[in-house]
Amino acid sequence: MKQLMISIGLVLLSAAMQSQVKLRKELSPLPPMGWMTWNLYGERIDEALIRKVADAMESTGMAAAGYRYLIIDDGWQGGRDKKNNIIADPVKFPSGIKALADYVHAKGLKLGIYSDAAPLTCAGYTASLNFEEQDARTFASWGIDYLKYDYCNAPEDSNTAKQRYTTMANALTKSGRDIVFGICEWGGRKPWFWASNAGGSVWRTTGDIRDKWKAKPGTDGEGIMDIVAVNGSLDAYAGSGRWNDPDMLVIGLYGAKGPSSDLGGIGCNDTEYQSQMSLWSMMAAPLIATNDITTMNEATKRILLNPEVIAINQDAAAIQAKRIRRDAQWEIFLKPLDGGDYALAVLNVTETEQPYNFSTEDLGLAAGFVIRDCWEHRLTGKKNKWSGKIAAHETKLFRLIKK
Ligand code: GLA
Repeated sequence: MKQLMISIGLVLLSAAMQSQVKLRKELSPLPPMGWMTWNLYGERIDEALIRKVADAMESTGMAAAGYRYLIIDDGWQGGRDKKNNIIADPVKFPSGIKALADYVHAKGLKLGIYSDAAPLTCAGYTASLNFEEQDARTFASWGIDYLKYDYCNAPEDSNTAKQRYTTMANALTKSGRDIVFGICEWGGRKPWFWASNAGGSVWRTTGDIRDKWKAKPGTDGEGIMDIVAVNGSLDAYAGSGRWNDPDMLVIGLYGAKGPSSDLGGIGCNDTEYQSQMSLWSMMAAPLIATNDITTMNEATKRILLNPEVIAINQDAAAIQAKRIRRDAQWEIFLKPLDGGDYALAVLNVTETEQPYNFSTEDLGLAAGFVIRDCWEHRLTGKKNKWSGKIAAHETKLFRLIKK
């Protein structure tokens, strides 16, 4: 009898755990969109900055375009109080994180925060190892909606990583608040195989992006194309509620001094930034801007706020594009969309303008589409065959609309 009770208990417990995991997968059915402090501001953050950015999210149309999560990265922490509760730096955040969350929520935005699966974060601040439940409760009580959880100062092996991430995900679930969990171990332990089961909605697949197109051979610091090289092959692992995260958008940074300007991060041109937006949208990646949105120029706004491109990222079919061609001249991605449309991205990887020629037949698709150029905001007037020119490093984005 006692044994029977124990096994019934175990079955119930595992059913409860499974439904928790299911719930976690429902937290971000589409790729999260937002803005994060790190790439430009690094540790130079405070509550005035977050309020200013929240205001600008509203006034620039970023919020209306879907950029909802405002995420405070590393550098907010002020240690622990006498009861071991994690606290914000009282100089940077004198009103506290709860007040900030209230401010952000009042605008219909969501607030994210950062910690790490070790005693200290990457930048050396207080982190959450062995305080997972207590910190999750604190984050929930502040009104936090997203946790980026880093892996600096933690053991290399995969089992420890899986276990530490699962512990924090369970703690977040137990907190009773819906908090999206972003796993950030830089791809070293192939998180695309396990991060969703560990409770993550998104997982970084690479090291930190630098504000550059591509690393010179033999040098450090990954640019846009170095990251696409890895993340572009991982489409099989993404789907609704589980997203490959190729790190933040560098769009509009133009080499500004900050964490993504080191290791050759001299900045990109607008054609290259347009390519990042196109490729991240095709890869169903989180769209997390990092530029100073209070002073964005028109080119940056045009790129970050393009509704046709955002619609491809946020498409309800929730499918990451497949890379269908990769050679010395082109990278081509195809993304099935809800309702039978397709998105097609064509990137010229060479250093000179190139002519292109396409037919739906080449793409393995039946006829019956009209072709829309999502950057020029016009129907090409073509049906199943079309051609044109693409500048060096430019990505053209077409929507193949089913007739
Ligand atoms: C790591 C992460 C970055 C950022 C910093 C903060 O490098 O990968 O995205 O969060 O830590 O210290």
